[in-house]
Amino acid sequence: MKTQVGIIGAGPAGLMLSHLLHLEGIESVILENRSREEIEGTIRAGVLEQGTVDLLNATGVGERMMREGHLHHGIELQYNGIRHRVNMHELTDGKSIMVYPQHEVIKDLVAARLEAGAEIYFSVSDVTLHDVDSDSPKIRFKHDGGEEELSCDFIAGCDGFHGPSRKMIPDAIREEKQQIYPFSWLGILAETPIANPELIYSNHDRGFALISTRTPEIQRHYIQVDPSDDIANWSDDRIWTELKARVETKDGWKLPDGPIIQKNIVSMRSFVCEPMQYGRLFIAGDAAHIVPPTGAKGLNLAMSDVQVLKRGIETFYQTGSTDMLNRYSEIALRRIWKAQRFSSWMTTTLHRNFSHSSFERSIQLSELEYVTSSRAALTSLSENYIGLPLEWESPKSLLV
Ligand code: PHB
Repeated sequence: MKTQVGIIGAGPAGLMLSHLLHLEGIESVILENRSREEIEGTIRAGVLEQGTVDLLNATGVGERMMREGHLHHGIELQYNGIRHRVNMHELTDGKSIMVYPQHEVIKDLVAARLEAGAEIYFSVSDVTLHDVDSDSPKIRFKHDGGEEELSCDFIAGCDGFHGPSRKMIPDAIREEKQQIYPFSWLGILAETPIANPELIYSNHDRGFALISTRTPEIQRHYIQVDPSDDIANWSDDRIWTELKARVETKDGWKLPDGPIIQKNIVSMRSFVCEPMQYGRLFIAGDAAHIVPPTGAKGLNLAMSDVQVLKRGIETFYQTGSTDMLNRYSEIALRRIWKAQRFSSWMTTTLHRNFSHSSFERSIQLSELEYVTSSRAALTSLSENYIGLPLEWESPKSLLV
C-alpha cells in the first residue's frame, strides 16, 4: 500500500489532519487500533475554543455542532461560596466557546472522511514505524489477520500519549518535560436538567468542582479527588453530597441531582515532548503533549498542531521545500507552551492543594480575588480560555 501521508490515530488530530489534507488534494490513510464504535463512544472533554469552532465551520464539518452544541459567552468562577461571572464575549471582542463533546466531533469527522472516500483502517494492531529518517517511511500493522505495509512520504503520529510514534524520536534528541499534580478528577455523567447556563469552576475548601453540560438531559460534572482514591469508594450519594457542598452558594443556588449513568477517575498531568519531528515523522496532539483538563485545551491543541502540520505538508507538495515542515515543532510548540502555562495556572489556582500552608492557601484565594476584580486580569484569563491565535512568527515584544 502507498499513500502520501500515513496517519496513525483516528482521534481529533489524525482525523482533522486527514480532512485538511483532503481539502488540499493530498491523500492520506488513517490507522486506528480501536474500533469505530469505541472512538465514537468514548467520553472525553467538551469545550471548543472559538478558533476550533471556526475551523470546523470553515472546513464544512461544523453543521451538527452549530445545531446541537451549546454556545457559551463566559464562565463562572466561584470561591468562598460566591460566583463571579467572567464575560468572555465582551472581554475578547465578541468571541465565545462551544460546549460540544469530543466524541461528537469525532463522529462528524469520521462521517466526512468516509463520505469523501477516505481509507480508515479501524481495529488495527502491532503498529510499527520504519525508516522515519528516510524519504520513504513505512508503517507496518496487522488488520483482519493479515500483515500490511503502508509506504508514505510522511508519517503523522496522532496516536495519543501511549502510541508508538513518539518513541521513534531518538532518546538523544527527545526531551520530555512533565509535571504531575497531586489531584485527580472524578467525572460523572448524570441524567439531570442543565444546572447553569454556563460552566462553573469552583474553588472550595473541600476541593475543586466543575459543573458542565452535554445535552439538555445529560450533564457532566467533576470533583477533585486524591490520586490514590478508588471509584469504588464513591457511591452516587457520596458524589452528589460532595458536589453540592462544593458548588452551592451562599445565596441559596441548588444543584439538581439525578441518576449517575457513568463515573470514572482520571489523573492529571502536564507533558510536552520536544521536538515534535524526527526526519519524516511528525507527532501531534496527545502523542506530543498532555494538558490537565482544567484549562479545557486538549482537543484545541490537537487542532492547532495539525493546522501547522498541514501547512508544512501542503508547502512541500506545492514547492518541494521542507522549510515550513522543519519549522513545525517551533511554531506548534509556541502555542503549546502558552496553553501549558494557562492550564497549569488554572489547575493550581482552582484546586485545593492539601499540602499547602495556610499562607499559600491565602495567596491562592487572593489570586482569585485579584483576577475577578481586575479588568486586565479578566481579559488575560478570557483571551487564553477562548484560545490564543496561532503565531506563525515569533511574537514581537511590546516592550519599548
Ligand atoms: C467537560 O465538559 O468535560 C469539561 C469542561 C471544561 C473543562 C474540562 C472538561 O475545563
